[in-house]
Amino acid sequence: MSRLRSAMQRGKSVVLENTEVKKSSNKKKTKATIKEEETSEHSSYHFFNDLPEISAYRSHLLQWYDQNKRELPWRTVAMTEPDVNIRTYAVWVSEIMLQQTQVATVIDYYNKWMQRWPTVEKLAAATLEEVNQVWAGLGYYSRGRRLHEGAKKVVSDLNGQMPRCTEGLLKLLPGVGRYTAGAIGSIALGQVTGAVDGNVIRVLCRVRAIGADSTGPAVTEALWKIANTIVDTERPGDFNQAMMELGARVCTPKSPLCSQCPIQTHCHAFRKVSIKQEQDSKRLQSKLASKPNTSVVDIENCSAAGSCNLCLSEDWDSKQGVQNYPRKPVKKAPRVEKTLTCIVQRQRGQETEYLLTQRPSKGLLAGMWELPSMVLESDLSENKHGDLLCTMMQRFLDTLLGTDSFQFVGEVVHILSHIHQTYVVYSVCVSDCSEKEQEQNTCWLTKCALQGAAVSTGLKKIMKLYDSSSKANTRDIKRKLSPGDGTEKQSNKKKKLKVVAANGGPKQLSLSKFFSTSKQATKTKSKNT
Ligand code: ADE
Repeated sequence: MSRLRSAMQRGKSVVLENTEVKKSSNKKKTKATIKEEETSEHSSYHFFNDLPEISAYRSHLLQWYDQNKRELPWRTVAMTEPDVNIRTYAVWVSEIMLQQTQVATVIDYYNKWMQRWPTVEKLAAATLEEVNQVWAGLGYYSRGRRLHEGAKKVVSDLNGQMPRCTEGLLKLLPGVGRYTAGAIGSIALGQVTGAVDGNVIRVLCRVRAIGADSTGPAVTEALWKIANTIVDTERPGDFNQAMMELGARVCTPKSPLCSQCPIQTHCHAFRKVSIKQEQDSKRLQSKLASKPNTSVVDIENCSAAGSCNLCLSEDWDSKQGVQNYPRKPVKKAPRVEKTLTCIVQRQRGQETEYLLTQRPSKGLLAGMWELPSMVLESDLSENKHGDLLCTMMQRFLDTLLGTDSFQFVGEVVHILSHIHQTYVVYSVCVSDCSEKEQEQNTCWLTKCALQGAAVSTGLKKIMKLYDSSSKANTRDIKRKLSPGDGTEKQSNKKKKLKVVAANGGPKQLSLSKFFSTSKQATKTKSKNT
């Protein structure tokens, strides 16, 4: 402690870090060691330097967590599963699913997955197709593939035993990075290590007033240092989950609930906001009393301010309050892409089937099933869609189709993190033509089978649009077959205009030269089926 104090007095940055030491009993215990850091780039203001403060921080946070935590299936497994191998596997699955996906969405997927593959051996014995099927709709499909690869590796190379420490998880499991290894290590194995995910970045940047680019290496290293310092040595898994929970429910990106925050007294950002407000009100009072303002408080507490690589890189924005932290660089705009897509339908007895093709085994949506599609050149005119659809269908089917076989269905916008995708959707009904044998990886699926297959959310959205437009067209046709009085005709007309608008608006007009109207399409349908 005296080393800590003297270093602080010398104006050096002092970092406390938890280091694991093996006790003679072979039980892992922790002790705090003090590291001195000579650095001119940032001050101790951005770290935790005081053991009593760390202790208070831990107990405030854990008390809040014990009273407010959500009961989540992976938390129950982590607390109750006695088999360390199953426990580690179960937490691994949850952490991979929780990467880039909200807790509420993950719960059902997690339960389904664990029911189907309760052990790493069971997952290793599954096919990628089955894995993709259960993952379908969760997005970022490479995560499921890597889990599967990892399970196969654990079974074949590690005798079915999951790694038993954070280092091993990081080194041996594909798709497991620094955060995920820390989370699994602390939650399932009780390892004393921090875990810095997006929520924790936000909490720590606010707590220690770190306002430099939160994606840069200086901030990343500082955050890991802090996380490793403050993690509770007795309950590291609960501590890390409490940090995540706080970030998800109290210290939120927008409208943070500072008045409900259990660590408000430890938060530099909150203190800055309070001091600023006090300053403002004092200034106003002095102005009203026409007196000079004598109480200007210096609110910048970082002794290296100006040259500090962790301080705010831009000016404080008083409207933002604690949301001045964290700062991120401006996001790269997503790639804008247009994809021509065709719903190819055939009748098999009572069943309608749809043609699907499988994506390559590497890259985006690897191994997933999709509708026949092609990315459109950005400057391509709509008049060319018919020719492109004919060419595209020649790749899949033995039959040659004319441009007038295709009907425009509408457009579906599907936004992924890095792509702004617009599907331009057409449909075609084919009669007894067969797909080209083994030319392409294709299959025909019923609507029901398609819903349960390894297909993306984008495809499900397309089918939903198709369903609603088919229903609208059917209603429209029925009304035409039984015309009533003039009033009814009038309302039908209105309805039809609405449907056309819902199916793509003015685009339908320019396409009508090339493609069938819904009436013609119905004829085509009955001819082909
Ligand atoms: N996000 C990542 N891991 C989590 C966990 N274990 N609980 C809640 N949210 C999380």
